[in-house]
Amino acid sequence: MEIGSEFHCVIEDHKSNLEYFKEEYLFGFTRGALYSVVEQLKEKGNTKFLIPNYLCESVLATFLQHHLEIQYYKINHDLSVNMEDFSCKYNKESSQVIFITNYFNVDNELLLHSQFDLANVISIVDVTHNIFSTKMSKSDIYVASLRKWIGIPSGTYVKLNNTAIVNLRTEMTESSIINEIIYKRAYAANLKTIFLSNNREELKANFLEIFNAAEKQLDENGTIHTPIDRLSSQLLQCTDWNKVFEQRKKNFLYLEENLRDVKEIITGQELLKDQVPFGFPVFTSKRDELRKYLIENQIYCPIHWPIPEIMKGKDNIIETIGSTILTLPCDQRYDIEDMKRLVSIIKKFLGVQ
Ligand SMILES: Cc1ncc(COP(=O)(O)O)c(C=O)c1O
Repeated sequence: MEIGSEFHCVIEDHKSNLEYFKEEYLFGFTRGALYSVVEQLKEKGNTKFLIPNYLCESVLATFLQHHLEIQYYKINHDLSVNMEDFSCKYNKESSQVIFITNYFNVDNELLLHSQFDLANVISIVDVTHNIFSTKMSKSDIYVASLRKWIGIPSGTYVKLNNTAIVNLRTEMTESSIINEIIYKRAYAANLKTIFLSNNREELKANFLEIFNAAEKQLDENGTIHTPIDRLSSQLLQCTDWNKVFEQRKKNFLYLEENLRDVKEIITGQELLKDQVPFGFPVFTSKRDELRKYLIENQIYCPIHWPIPEIMKGKDNIIETIGSTILTLPCDQRYDIEDMKRLVSIIKKFLGVQ
């Protein structure tokens, strides 16, 4: 069976009562919700934004589209915030908006709050990578893209700790383009389910093409802020999240145990007891060759993230991260046997045993 790539659709007979999936927290896509947040802040006169220099292209675009006064703070090799650089750029007296990204198990929000008083500024945190491992109490706004965790056509979590700052409910629109994207993603995820359960090889090109077309359309329409679709909302409720969390942890720990001492790759920050992993990041100078080799063995690993064109040539550290990082899938679709196969193929490629 293949490992990685887009999630297929799984319908479980379960009733989740997790707080995260209450209607009040759910929206369509993160980029659209974030676009609306930034727009409302800008309308209130908040135009100075301090954001990390390492971001995924779609998130960066939401800031760039608004023509703000943007300053970038630096990220270290280990994905933590460069505190010295941050302290030079952070000015708590000015009306700066601080955007923070937590990368994998690295909780930059926690690190920043432990060293700086962020109480007087507006802080937004992207918790896509660690939503299930963070208390989300100290900052003003939290966003997370939920479609990176299970097979749902759309889904974004937004928590507003300070409801006076923005209002996301009144600003939502219905969009026929977004509906088309959701329909395509739902259709492709179901085709993938049939492909996986019946070994229907001939469906693969079909669902990949539909997923790609939907992603391209989303990239072109990232400013539209919509409600979550009904199917995604129901899939979030009927998922057995405890099972999801436990399987991810088990898989992560297996990878850590078996890759930690491999000299040719560097593994990311280890998993703390209460953390639920998003994925298992590794860093290697042979990233592109390794990725290709894994694809030849039907293992499809994403890159979080390629450096956006506009950020190229600006900072050696993020260039290095962007050209060496690879995310190994360790999610609920897989068990230890799959992780064994993944490790053995990586070791074979590197010539170690
Ligand atoms: C960390 C992070 N946040 C947000 C997004 C955007 O989420 P969505 O695809 O729901 O707009 C992405 C990329 O897709 C991401 O990697």
